[in-house]
Amino acid sequence: MKIVTDIQELRDQLRGQNRASFVPTMGNLHEGHLSLMRIARQHGDPVIASIFVNRLQFGPNEDFDKYPRTLEADAEKLEKEGVYVLFAPTESVLYPEPQEYRVDPPKQLGDILEGEFRPGFFKGVCTVVLKLFSCVQPKVAVFGKKDYQQLMIIRQMAQQFALPVDIVAGETIRAEDGLALSSRNGYLTKEERTEAPQLQIALQNLRQEIQGLLGKAESSSITAHQLLALEQKASEALKNRGWVPDYIAIRKRSNLLAPNTEDLLTKKELVILTAAKLGKTRLIDNLEV
Ligand code: PAF
Repeated sequence: MKIVTDIQELRDQLRGQNRASFVPTMGNLHEGHLSLMRIARQHGDPVIASIFVNRLQFGPNEDFDKYPRTLEADAEKLEKEGVYVLFAPTESVLYPEPQEYRVDPPKQLGDILEGEFRPGFFKGVCTVVLKLFSCVQPKVAVFGKKDYQQLMIIRQMAQQFALPVDIVAGETIRAEDGLALSSRNGYLTKEERTEAPQLQIALQNLRQEIQGLLGKAESSSITAHQLLALEQKASEALKNRGWVPDYIAIRKRSNLLAPNTEDLLTKKELVILTAAKLGKTRLIDNLEV
């Protein structure tokens, strides 16, 4: 595997490759990332990975400085997965001057859920992803469903800019106890790590409640208010266990807006999304209904 830090060198290395499959990451790789590399391999050749901790997507009080940087160990893992090139630019390569042109996703998708609690996050993500696409020029790019809203926003960005990249989704990989794998799990204390799977359990309980409601009542009589009450209950249950939830929200998969009675009547597909703090660590997860 070749490790490339320079954009021109990357282009030289990839010249003539028109089926490249790309997985952008911020490093500190775990099995979730590696599963994306395997999906990438099924959709194109060669597989290119990037590691870049993108300052633009971190808020002023977030963990940019302490975000784990483990390049050597990451490179070993990628080599074993048969990755052809690892693009690992420094900040001065990717942002040699202040990045003044940015991609601002539409407010109705970019400013809700994660975007509400992490203002500017998706602007930072879209900007770096577009720039990485421009460096790598892949045919396919793979993103995990754990970052459900991110995947959706990137998909729409690619569509609206007619980018010649197919966006492929990878399922969330979980530890045996159900906790979604994430680089931020490493921040959890031992006790918090034991508690952490409760986030997924809260989503599963909520899904059961939704299914119960949909099964019991005529869909035409279910109101947005009833769904809000279920969200509230799930949030309270987490609070009682010591979590500080930012949101736990039942949304339509198509646009991440709250479903109305008509949506329930026409059986629109739903997803539950959550973000909650456990001690100092903020975890996110989701569950399709
Ligand atoms: O999901 C991530 O790791 C990051 O948001 C991404 C897509 C690599 C952009 O920095």
